[in-house]
Amino acid sequence: MMTATHLKERSLLGLKDLSRNEIESILDRAAYWESQSEKVVPMLNSQFVANMFFENSTRTRFSFEMAEKRLGAQVLNFAAAASSVDKGESIYDTVRTLESMGIDAGVIRLKPDGVLQHLAETVNIPLINAGDGNNEHPTQALLDLYTMRKKFGSLKGLKVSIIGDIQHSRVARSDLWALKKFGAEVRFCAPNSMRAPELEQYAPYVSMDEAMEADVVMMLRVQLERHATGILKSAAEYRVQYGLTEARAAKLSKDTIIMHPAPVNRNVEIDDLVVESSQSMIFPQMSNGVPIRMAVIERALKN
Ligand code: CP
Repeated sequence: MMTATHLKERSLLGLKDLSRNEIESILDRAAYWESQSEKVVPMLNSQFVANMFFENSTRTRFSFEMAEKRLGAQVLNFAAAASSVDKGESIYDTVRTLESMGIDAGVIRLKPDGVLQHLAETVNIPLINAGDGNNEHPTQALLDLYTMRKKFGSLKGLKVSIIGDIQHSRVARSDLWALKKFGAEVRFCAPNSMRAPELEQYAPYVSMDEAMEADVVMMLRVQLERHATGILKSAAEYRVQYGLTEARAAKLSKDTIIMHPAPVNRNVEIDDLVVESSQSMIFPQMSNGVPIRMAVIERALKN
């Protein structure tokens, strides 16, 4: 049985409580994995990882699976809709069931806030947060920092504007916590109905014009699936007021990069043509997710 300290060191629940050194070592290890030409390095071939997604995902789920397979791990994929969750089994009982069968680590995505912390205190395997309610999405932020570091060399002093549905964004929170540790200047921009007042002490809200004056313009998805009624009155109006339209993108400095965690609501928070413009890092972000997740899985499982 692993000690509590050992489990904590191998798990990745969030970036708020992870040191700058630890984050930097994950980014460095991801750079190592990206530089390797072999597609599969079977260093984890006696280890079993379960990807437990209680909420839908494309990028996170498949890039974890790619990362695990590239390290030679044995991969179990769990989808809530095809499991006994459909018969009313709880998240806790599901995770305990897979733990009882002998998995060595679990990657987990959850809708409700607070459940992941409780699970991490009760199970005896490392858990990796693949998206935790409105709380954190640490591997997304790690791949975001990795993308910025590749482009700019250093994160210190970088001006990062995070724009859109801050209130419902676990990505905004993880990016904020991590970027602050590296001395980046984070600003938010959002309509009143999508602001997170508790974060205002860490990052000021600025106008859309001010937000465009940045090294990184990070657009967030309007998270309709998390909204109470009335938060988004009109997608067309939102686009005009808070969208990265072609007109706004044309006025950005040529050195500014455009990011978005995706999935994208095209022509709502970002115009169709901007998604694949030369300044857009949206698809490179997805590529960078694989080496980042290799580094995170290796950290969880390597002896
Ligand atoms: N960025 C992100 O988390 O995408 P998925 O929901 O597809 O995993």
